[in-house]
Amino acid sequence: MRTDINEIIGKVLIDQDSVQKRIKQLASKVNEYYNDVDNDILLVGILRGSIMFMADLAKQLKINCKLDFMDVSSYGDEFESSGNVKILKDLDTDVRGLDVLIVEDIIDSGNTLAFLADSLKQRGAKSVKIITLLDKPERREKKISPDWTGFKIPNEFVVGYGMDYKQLYRNLPYIGVLKEQVYEDEA
Ligand code: IMP
Ligand code: MG
Repeated sequence: MRTDINEIIGKVLIDQDSVQKRIKQLASKVNEYYNDVDNDILLVGILRGSIMFMADLAKQLKINCKLDFMDVSSYGDEFESSGNVKILKDLDTDVRGLDVLIVEDIIDSGNTLAFLADSLKQRGAKSVKIITLLDKPERREKKISPDWTGFKIPNEFVVGYGMDYKQLYRNLPYIGVLKEQVYEDEA
């Protein structure tokens, strides 16, 4: 059965055009920052939420970069991060001596990124920077501040542009707030 998207999305928080415009601005900051770095940069996308952001950002980058992905799980349930981060799929790249840029969809408690940034530094990355499309600073549990942020958003559960609820809605080209009714119905 196909669900009407208007019954799922309460409101569009960031429309498609605004997402794309902001990514161009972020890319120019990243291009500027790495301009004088001679070696290649490794972009590390965190699966699966960051795939849209990774693809659109990478297309705007003028630096030499390689792309790799990691899959981690930190959610105890659909909404709350557990603080207990597990690597489900590791990088194929050896990060020793590399300048790494972690590409994330959204920072919530900060548990995922605190773990990842630490782990990549421990493996000997030369530098570890973080770019996130969204940030929900109200919910922070770990002291982690991204180097570049697309949008700070209030404490609402969002879907679209890579982000899911129960693996659905990642394909929406905009970022929307899920109607509370959607998860209340299932509770
Ligand atoms: P953290 O470890 O609590 O910072 O959680 C970060 C991860 O939780 C993100 O990479 C997302 O995959 C997921 N997440 C956090 N907030 C949302 C949301 O509002 N919608 C969808 N996924 C979210
Ligand atoms: Mg994620």
